[in-house]
Amino acid sequence: MTTSSTGAPQRKLGSLLVTGGAGFIGSSFIRYLFRQPDFGGRIVNYDLLTYAGNLDNVEGAVDAARYKFVRADICDFDTLLKTCEQENVDTIVHFAAESHVDRSILGPSAFVQTNVIGTFQVLEVVRKLPSIHLHHVSTDEVFGSLGPTGAFTESSPYQPNSPYSASKAASDHLVRAYAHTYGVSTTHSNCSNNYGPFQFPEKLIPLMVLNMLEGRPLPVYGDGMNVRDWLYVDDHAEAIWLVLRSGKTGESYNVGGRAELANLPLLERLIDIVASETGRDREDLRRLITFVKDRPGHDRRYAVDSSKIEAELGFRQRHNVDTGLRETVRWYIQNNAWIERVRSGAYREWLDANYAKR
Ligand code: NAD
Ligand code: DAU
Repeated sequence: MTTSSTGAPQRKLGSLLVTGGAGFIGSSFIRYLFRQPDFGGRIVNYDLLTYAGNLDNVEGAVDAARYKFVRADICDFDTLLKTCEQENVDTIVHFAAESHVDRSILGPSAFVQTNVIGTFQVLEVVRKLPSIHLHHVSTDEVFGSLGPTGAFTESSPYQPNSPYSASKAASDHLVRAYAHTYGVSTTHSNCSNNYGPFQFPEKLIPLMVLNMLEGRPLPVYGDGMNVRDWLYVDDHAEAIWLVLRSGKTGESYNVGGRAELANLPLLERLIDIVASETGRDREDLRRLITFVKDRPGHDRRYAVDSSKIEAELGFRQRHNVDTGLRETVRWYIQNNAWIERVRSGAYREWLDANYAKR
């Protein structure tokens, strides 16, 4: 670490290995970094390219001379170690994960494998190469479900409710334990729901927008009043960049959008935006709303208190939910080629089979 002109400590960020850099948030982070004039380092994008990984997400947004893609599994210790050694990596930013709650309910095995064993292997590499700093990207879901008031802080107890959130909680605990026991250099962040361009259309916002554009049912789980705290994905990328540069080693930071919305009111907003952007009739779109059986164990409410990262590192989100949602809807309207490529018939069959109309 060196010290900046303001006295805040700053890490050397010369050679970053980004796991999951072809996914939704990892690719936003890579695009974001290559836009930063004060980032002069190299990035190795280390991604297995599962159904959720797509190299189109970084196409045209990287400086080829400072970028390399490696298709490999984070569970493969030897390849990860060799890549870190060959590329002289000083920082790992760990996004790679299975990330969709519904999939974790139907098939938890991949979640334990990637999120728990994969993170364990990342930590083993850092234990072997202790000059590397690891930033672990995690979720607010590890804290469980809130009642009508309050927000998760960094000291909220862990109460994960889905196989996904339990696997992320396990990974957080491993990161903490490796820092405590072996003294490896870590930071970690727990973020709320992200939205924005390039999100795989199994998640609520892109799924609803695309279904509206195609006149398909809009499947609302349960009563539609589960609350999420929405953050534009580039703001998450900026928060991670702040933590990487100046976050205290060994600390965790919560990142939220200060934008709590229940699913049904969120859907109404999306309907308004799609109607105004495409000229479709608002009432026709509303008639597509279809209540379906609830997600098992569905968390009722998340809200994140970001005051620590705001006070310590000066984090301020740049997008509010009104402009962010409109930008996102426009992106999905304008990027049909991307949508066609990431979609598979298999996913649609899976969705229809598991979330039948009530
Ligand atoms: P995503 O599903 O869009 O992308 C995951 C990426 O990881 C894909 O590119 C995939 O190919 C890659 N990957 C999966 N298994 C791998 C393996 N074994 N080895 C190497 N690469 C592998 O996920 P996302 O939404 O971008 O989430 C990224 C991270 O942020 C995750 O750790 C997630 O838990 C966390 N997070 C997500 C959100 C959200 O709202 N999406 C919010 C908070 C935290
Ligand atoms: O809170 C952070 C988490 O946000 C991340 O850690 C996860 O990786 C990410 O997937 C997201 O999890 P959620 O379960 O909150 O997101 P999802 O988009 O799957 O669902 C958002 C809400 O919408 C949730 O209450 C379930 C509901 N939903 C979702 C889908 C896909 C529906 O009502 N209908 C749907 O078809």
